[in-house]
Amino acid sequence: MSWGLSNRISRIMKGGRTVMLAVDHGYFQGPTTGLENPRRTITPLLPFADSLMLTRGVLRTSVDPGQSVPIVLRVTGGTSILKELSNEVVVTSIEEAVRLNASAVAVSVFVGSEHEKQTLANLAQLVDEGERYGMPVLAVTAVGREMTRDARYLGLACRIAAELGASVVKTYYCEDFRKVVDGCPVPVVIAGGKKLPERDALQLAHDAISEGAVGVDMGRNIFQSTNPVGMIKAVQAVVHAGKGVDDAFHVFNEEEKASAKLR
Ligand code: R5P
Repeated sequence: MSWGLSNRISRIMKGGRTVMLAVDHGYFQGPTTGLENPRRTITPLLPFADSLMLTRGVLRTSVDPGQSVPIVLRVTGGTSILKELSNEVVVTSIEEAVRLNASAVAVSVFVGSEHEKQTLANLAQLVDEGERYGMPVLAVTAVGREMTRDARYLGLACRIAAELGASVVKTYYCEDFRKVVDGCPVPVVIAGGKKLPERDALQLAHDAISEGAVGVDMGRNIFQSTNPVGMIKAVQAVVHAGKGVDDAFHVFNEEEKASAKLR
């Protein structure tokens, strides 16, 4: 692994663990609840995010260049919720990622979906180009409607992503998650998925870490929370401080109380 690639990975992993804040949903969902005004949502969360996962459009318009938060740049897309989601192409080049001082690029793979091969080719191409510039690639295992989020399917998708050269793989938590992690020779982070009650989302993060995930790449369960800052602090407590769910939920509740007093 080149020095540049290792250095970029170490920017997003703090002591081998990471809390990535995912705010890239608009690339196919448009103005998702909680991200209608990206700057307003992102700004208060930045001090607590180990990295920010987003598109170049939101980066340029909604994040001040003086910010030091490492950027995980979403570079595949070209689809919308109105069409077949797996029909993604590379929409942002590695050179642009370097210009934007990204610490990694993110690409979705849709194993088992209509355009499986095209999305795996996107990943392979980005890994090749990333090697040239020392740019790590985060592979996102997107799950088509027809797929089941179980250890067999997610294990297959994660392993394929790692075999094609991804430096980190993002997937979903599932029963027997340890098997997914054990079968994947690169670090695994989990997405949060649809909004859950805060305690349940913390339980999800806790279970994933206990079963070998190195962190989370979480979006809706943070920015759609009643208290996004409280939630990201609570997730940090699970991922970095090794707190249990009760202690982490306490962090969230204390932040809620403190914000209520200020209102
Ligand atoms: C999905 O393709 C996007 O990359 C999201 O960033 C991802 O799903 C993580 O966000 P959430 O925690 O809301 O699922």
